[in-house]
Amino acid sequence: MSALNENIRRRLLSQIKLKANEDESTPTPVSETTETNNNSDQGRHPQDRPDYSNMDYWEDRYSSDNTSGTFEWVVTYSNPVLRSLLDTFITSVHTSFLRPVKFLHPGCGDSTLGVDIMSSSTLSAPISLDNTDASPAVVSKMASLHPSSTWFVADVLSPCSTESRGSYDAVIDKCLCDAFLCGGVESDKLDKVKSYLRHCSEVTNDRGRLIMMSFGQPESRMRFFKQEGVGWSENVTVEEVVIPMEDGRKNKCWVYEFTK
Ligand SMILES: C[S@@+](CC[C@H](N)C(=O)[O-])C[C@H]1O[C@@H](n2cnc3c(N)ncnc32)[C@H](O)[C@@H]1O
Repeated sequence: MSALNENIRRRLLSQIKLKANEDESTPTPVSETTETNNNSDQGRHPQDRPDYSNMDYWEDRYSSDNTSGTFEWVVTYSNPVLRSLLDTFITSVHTSFLRPVKFLHPGCGDSTLGVDIMSSSTLSAPISLDNTDASPAVVSKMASLHPSSTWFVADVLSPCSTESRGSYDAVIDKCLCDAFLCGGVESDKLDKVKSYLRHCSEVTNDRGRLIMMSFGQPESRMRFFKQEGVGWSENVTVEEVVIPMEDGRKNKCWVYEFTK
């Protein structure tokens, strides 16, 4: 075989290998950044991606970031599509309890979603919201940037503490569960999603709800969500959402809703 043909053969083989490694359950993150943060996650091929399922990766990432920039996965709350979707969810939680309602925003990272929801002019429901993450570095950064919001360190893969049991009305997840599905073998993914969902079930009351924004389509997600013992009804609803971005791109995500 000539050198040229050999080169072509190698290139074709490597393309086939890349394709074979594309896993629907671990989609390439596409995100919108705010101001100073450099979005190095955008458009990464799954093979070139860091292990987002490993908490050490996040702590290293956040502790080596000396900027005051923030980073949003999927899109910011200022985007009308996300805003309308979340406002509808929050209002419906409020309507079902008819009292001030309490939300948990776990795996908040350096997203300002919780801050933006709390200062929203389009939401009339009286709410409170706790932002949590397992990374002490990011919690400390966000607490100093937004001291009037609530931030604390919490690992959602651990059972919930006695004092937090049943203390929330709903959980808002933006790409936290996705992170658990971006690395490791199938059995680890199943275990992590189960522990996570069970944690969310434990921290919410009997009529608790969970909304999850994800890059994963139902074909690659439902088997994780419908495991026995997750603490949520099997009737998980899903909506495909196309989010027009400021730069003209369109971001697609799936929004899952869980009830007890
Ligand atoms: C993909 S980022 C999403 C950040 C943010 N929710 C957003 O939408 O911009 C995943 C976040 O989950 C956090 N995380 C990963 N494992 C966690 C765990 N076991 N408990 C709590 N947070 C965790 C990471 O530190 C990271 O901030």
